[in-house]
Amino acid sequence: MNVDDLWTSLPVPALLLDVGNRIIAANSTAEDFMNVSAKSLLGTPIWDQVMIDAPIELAFARACSNRTSLHINDVDIGTGARAPVLCNMRIAPLNGSDDQMLVLFAPREITSSMSRNASSVKAARSAIGMAEMLAHEIKNPLAGITGAAQLLAMNLSNSDLEMTDLIVEECRRIVSLLDQVDQFGNLAPPQMDPVNVHDVLDRARRSAAVGFGAHMTLIEDYDPSLPPTMGDTDQLLQVFQNLLKNASEASKGAAGKIRLHTYYDQSLRVRRHDGTQAKLPLQIEIIDDGPGLPPEIESDVFEPFISGRENGTGLGLALVSKIIADHDGWITVDSVPGRTVFRVSLPLVTTIPQGEK
Ligand SMILES: Nc1ncnc2c1ncn2[C@@H]1O[C@H](COP(=O)(O)OP(=O)(O)O)[C@@H](O)[C@H]1O
Ligand SMILES: [Mg+2]
Repeated sequence: MNVDDLWTSLPVPALLLDVGNRIIAANSTAEDFMNVSAKSLLGTPIWDQVMIDAPIELAFARACSNRTSLHINDVDIGTGARAPVLCNMRIAPLNGSDDQMLVLFAPREITSSMSRNASSVKAARSAIGMAEMLAHEIKNPLAGITGAAQLLAMNLSNSDLEMTDLIVEECRRIVSLLDQVDQFGNLAPPQMDPVNVHDVLDRARRSAAVGFGAHMTLIEDYDPSLPPTMGDTDQLLQVFQNLLKNASEASKGAAGKIRLHTYYDQSLRVRRHDGTQAKLPLQIEIIDDGPGLPPEIESDVFEPFISGRENGTGLGLALVSKIIADHDGWITVDSVPGRTVFRVSLPLVTTIPQGEK
């Protein structure tokens, strides 16, 4: 293995500093993160390129002179080119050198499945396969139970009717859970056509406004010039309906605001597993002012069966994440109490012929 390859493939922004805190190397993720080429970074002092909203210079100087490492969590890191990003920072002396320091940034945005390791994807798949099989097996006896309860109900007094109603109602809930599991397993590959995301958002907004989101104020904040994406309208509709539903449920019945925000950001690129880069300039954000993600599930919300709600299935965001991955897109969430942002990033309709990069 070549050590240079290791440096270039590091999936986090990494910088190497000399004794004067000047940047002497920047990996390609750092170029993306800072939105400048390595060439223009080299030789410049790090604090000219990176703005940190925390008084870390003393601690940093101490780490340099003692050759010790330093961990700084939850700092806003700005680069001049764009809004600050919440990061964890790791600073460590470079082994084998007297004065060089390595700086790593770990952006704290939680990203979904594309970066997930293969074993957890496999585990999730087999869990879903198992659940699908169970779902199928449970539905038949459940229909029997419901039917029997309805027959019983015909001869019951009012007070006992409550019991049979409860049976029927709970059975209905189980069926709807099982339907969700089925839906997850049966998701067909997307039928790709040029799609105007505003049309899809509008449909999702209208169904939210008369249903699960009736208690919320839905605000449209669209960039009307947004070009179309390639996608499957029905599946994208499911994505936005799920995000709006979660945002509505997060307010726990209280009135709240949901902003549907679209904009164009040319700079967002992702590096795919095969090493190619893809531009994902279409941004759709669903922003709510609810309490935020429960901290204990924050890093796993896109996994199946992870739910922070009493009657949740934990399949909503897993489905969302699968659909967006099938669309070659990207979903992230950034959540603090009072502001939760789910951002979907999608590619443009391409005119590049198949096979070219
Ligand atoms: N906008 C949001 N605000 C706060 N928490 C959220 C939000 N969206 C999702 N969550 C959390 O993520 C969990 C998983 O969501 P999801 O996969 O849709 O499953 P479910 O809605 O069935 O619980 C939810 O139970 C909730 O705790
Ligand atoms: Mg949900």
